[in-house]
Amino acid sequence: MKIASMKIANNMKKSIVLLIAAVMLMPVMASAAGSSVKLESAPIDIFDKESLRRGAKAFGDYCYSCHAASFMRFNRIAKDLEMSEDEVREMLIHTRGKKGEPTKIGDLMKVSMTPEYARSAFGTAVPDLSLTARARGADWVYTYLRSFYVDDSRPTGFNNAVFPDVGMPNVLWALQGLQEPVYKKVMHGDVEVEELEGFKMAQPGKLSSAEYDMFLGDLTNFMVYIAEPVQVERRSLGWKVLLFLVVLFGFAYALKKEYWKDVH
Ligand code: HEC
Repeated sequence: MKIASMKIANNMKKSIVLLIAAVMLMPVMASAAGSSVKLESAPIDIFDKESLRRGAKAFGDYCYSCHAASFMRFNRIAKDLEMSEDEVREMLIHTRGKKGEPTKIGDLMKVSMTPEYARSAFGTAVPDLSLTARARGADWVYTYLRSFYVDDSRPTGFNNAVFPDVGMPNVLWALQGLQEPVYKKVMHGDVEVEELEGFKMAQPGKLSSAEYDMFLGDLTNFMVYIAEPVQVERRSLGWKVLLFLVVLFGFAYALKKEYWKDVH
């Protein structure tokens, strides 16, 4: 009887250890479930307003026709990125509301494309990009946008190394150029398989590769900003708090001197 209960206790210990190990390994397993492409580090600086403004323009020119960012309002962008409302209107507002009414500067960044239309055109819904940079990470977004390559077997003519069989067309190809995949042969046990090694530029785009990296850096920066707009305010708030503490220290010190001056 005693032996049996010890066995049960031992088994329970084992299961608890296994459970803890599984929980600790979860992030590793989750990242392993994605594609095996090494992510590039995104060159972003959330306090660089010039970069954020360039990113907003890129988003308006190339992404916002399909993707909404419906947690964001146009006038918030104007305020945070220090632009006039007219500049933001010019940069981002190209559509009208569902009933043809003009889009207002205080509106959310919705799109007029319906999910049904998106499904018929791309085989899938077009995701809202409000939180993507937070959910996927800036490096993922940056690497994803530079990893489209020519693949004639896909309906759009392109595939993506980070997001295999993606439904999104390669909307930036004219800027980046056309990339073709380069494969290497690797052994998986006894089986030889082809693995994507990298890309070669089959046809150069309008931008040099350094310019394209910068363009994507700005665009990713903007997406990181819309995913958490308060980041931009946080630093100036930090300085204000520090200044307040310095002033408070001055008063507190003077008060302390006043209280203790007769004690000695
Ligand atoms: C022609 C429409 C279209 C345009 C323009 C477009 N996309 Fe997409 N995008 C899609 C579709 C459709 C998907 C969904 C792909 C899938 O699930 O297979 C997608 C997916 C994505 C994803 C992956 C989201 C996720 O978490 O799964 C990101 C990031 C993205 N797009 C960013 C961009 C950016 C940045 C631009 C502008 C440079 C852009 N897209 C322009 C249609 C578009």
